Amino acid sequence: MIIQYVPLFRKKLMKTAWLMIPAAIITMPYACKKDNGADMYPPAGACNISDISYFNDVVPVIQSKCLDCHSRGLTRYTFATYADVRAAANSGRLVAAITHAPGAPVMPKDGPKLDSCSIAKIKSWVDAGAPDN
Ligand code: HEC
Repeated sequence: MIIQYVPLFRKKLMKTAWLMIPAAIITMPYACKKDNGADMYPPAGACNISDISYFNDVVPVIQSKCLDCHSRGLTRYTFATYADVRAAANSGRLVAAITHAPGAPVMPKDGPKLDSCSIAKIKSWVDAGAPDN
């Protein structure tokens, strides 16, 4: 190798190499501290409930699971507009109904309970103050 013919350079290289070992030992435990797999690559189907958007996360659920009844005057509650949904959210009735809280009407009526991720997202949105986002 060419390095063997340049003793001075090799010496310098070795010195640097020796310094790298303690440096590596010291830094190793910290290297991957924050890079755990679950944070970097959430498993498919993981439920992300931070920064919930009314438009992207809440509306699709309401549209597919609730509007059938809640837009046609079948109930006192219509969820046709943001203001409608916000009112139900702020009164606590929305979360009570979808979590099947004792005493609250069970929603969706006559249908299966919402999946836990949808419930968690709606709760998170309500907890954030039911923003129009
Ligand atoms: C099959 C029809 C139907 C579907 C689907 C349905 N609802 Fe309802 N909902 C009703 C009826 C009827 C009432 C009023 C009667 C009652 O109080 O039980 C009601 C009442 C409510 C109320 C008022 C609760 C209260 O405290 O008075 C909320 C909130 C509500 N629904 C939310 C939802 C949500 C959210 C969905 C979708 C995830 C949904 N509903 C799906 C029929 C439905």
